Amino acid sequence: PLIAANWKMNAGTVDEALTLVRALRSGLSRLAGVNVVLCPPFTVLASLAEVLRQSSIALGAQNMHWEPRGAFTGEIAPTMLAGLCRYVILGHSERRALGGTSDDDGALNRKVRAALAQDLTPILCAGESAREHEEADTERVVSTQVLAALDGLRSDQVATCVIAYEPIWAIGTGHSATPTLANRTIGLAIRRSVATQWDERTAESVRVLYGGSVTTDNIASFMAMPEIDGALVGGASLSPEFVALVGKVVG
Ligand code: PGA
Repeated sequence: PLIAANWKMNAGTVDEALTLVRALRSGLSRLAGVNVVLCPPFTVLASLAEVLRQSSIALGAQNMHWEPRGAFTGEIAPTMLAGLCRYVILGHSERRALGGTSDDDGALNRKVRAALAQDLTPILCAGESAREHEEADTERVVSTQVLAALDGLRSDQVATCVIAYEPIWAIGTGHSATPTLANRTIGLAIRRSVATQWDERTAESVRVLYGGSVTTDNIASFMAMPEIDGALVGGASLSPEFVALVGKVVG
């Protein structure tokens, strides 16, 4: 299993982020049998990389550009991340809403390719809006997003990716999807699409997470589902309580 913490634009200054990571580090390091990835803001990646150098806790970024360098004010290149972290969240719905990461112009697909070229593991996010959910359009929307982002990749490349199913209506709302619904969507919209486009083995190898209002109280019910390999956790990853959440995954 893999539990990724998406700190978003939280955790404050370098000192505040270091305080949080020190509070998490020893507790998380004691938990064997689960991969933990912390995805803090860019500004604290280098400091956290230093503190976590000897630990089993991995780091991830929250976004990146696909070009190696150039006139892209405010953007971060894959090569800049490669020495600092092993994962990168791509296509989070909050980024999609801000623009620059859409399926239509191939931007997300270029980001996924650029990440893999630097040995960064993409945590590729996909999920439907509240309206699409109400219109029972979930499977089509999620499948389309995933296939567009992974378009043209070899099966071995797809197999190394992590995909996070995050219904937009469940993010930060306190109303998670039910484990049964998340399991069903992951099976039908993600694994079946990957199996059809590539093959069964690839569909089984790719790690799929659920994200959206995951808490210490509900994590075990998601992990009990056969299609769910872990979680992408926002709000509940910002306090020492996160250790207890990850503890529920292994215990
Ligand atoms: P949440 O966020 O856990 O606060 O709902 C999840 C995410 O956006 O990745």
